[in-house]
Amino acid sequence: MLRSMILAAARSSRLERMAATAPVAKGVVNRYVPGRATDDALRATRELVDNGLKVSLDYLGEDTLTIAQAESTRDEYLRLLSSLNSQGLTPAAEVSVKLSALGQRIDEDMSLRMAEEICTAAADAGTTVTVDMEDHTVTDQTLDAVAKLREKFAGTGAVLQAYLRRTEADCKEFAVKGSRVRLCKGAYAEPESVAFQRKLDIDRSYVRCVNSLMRGEGYPMLATHDPRLVEIGIDRAKWYDRGPHSFEFQMLYGIRTEEQKRLVEAGYQVRVYVPYGDQWYGYLMRRLAERPANLTFFLRSLRGNK
Ligand code: FDA
Repeated sequence: MLRSMILAAARSSRLERMAATAPVAKGVVNRYVPGRATDDALRATRELVDNGLKVSLDYLGEDTLTIAQAESTRDEYLRLLSSLNSQGLTPAAEVSVKLSALGQRIDEDMSLRMAEEICTAAADAGTTVTVDMEDHTVTDQTLDAVAKLREKFAGTGAVLQAYLRRTEADCKEFAVKGSRVRLCKGAYAEPESVAFQRKLDIDRSYVRCVNSLMRGEGYPMLATHDPRLVEIGIDRAKWYDRGPHSFEFQMLYGIRTEEQKRLVEAGYQVRVYVPYGDQWYGYLMRRLAERPANLTFFLRSLRGNK
């Protein structure tokens, strides 16, 4: 209930404006987002890479409604990839892109063309792109777009969400040689007709998907902070005779950082998802929905109290 309310608030432009102009909760925002500028993202990336972690950078923004905004998002990715390359941060760092930030909802072909430009820049920089997954109304379109991008850029990553009832079947289809698949639980408020609602059902679906991806020939990217699912991932890798370099764990910037370190020290690959930019509101609200305990701090800071 609380989760759905927070996720509904994530879509409220009135609350977004309020949050943007309030002396916002620096502590809460900074915990999940290292900064607004490209240099903030590059600094955070350098620190993570120096500590043995890999990175996927996300220039924050979604539901872009103008072509100019989509172009400016694309241009930021092109600049970012060029800086990552010149600073020697590739291939350890790649980028994550939301098609809605490239105008998927206004002109699908345009968003695909822009994604191709970003994939070209990533290939020139010696790295890859993963296409983030958004709500279920765009799952088919997004997976089709990834399939098209893969014709030219085989390493383009797809994201599958275990809370969707369809995902187990998608995992089987995607677990093919050369594919990179990020498996996450899913972060949007979805109806029961398409998505499991109970945590237990979502976790069970996640495990079935892990089995499928680990058994297949692709490169699984297990995106979760859930300690039980991390252990199950390690167990299944052993079961299917996969070395630690044939899959990776992924976690979000600022969440379970000790666990990220522990896994790296144990010889596993861990990629940290690093979001940056001005449009942190939707991203932050989804993180608060996962952890309502942090909500109180955020609301208090909107009222001006630290
Ligand atoms: P769960 O939410 O059950 O949390 C397990 C434990 O992790 C908690 O008990 C707590 O200890 C810790 N934790 C989790 N969230 C926390 C928080 N916000 N603050 C503090 N502690 C927290 N989703 C999507 O729909 N599309 C996408 O493209 C992506 N991409 C993506 C990339 C990466 C690298 C990650 C890690 C996640 C995503 N997600 C995503 C988000 C994902 O779907 C999911 O919402 C979150 O990862 C939370 O789910 P967990 O699996 O971590 O489990």
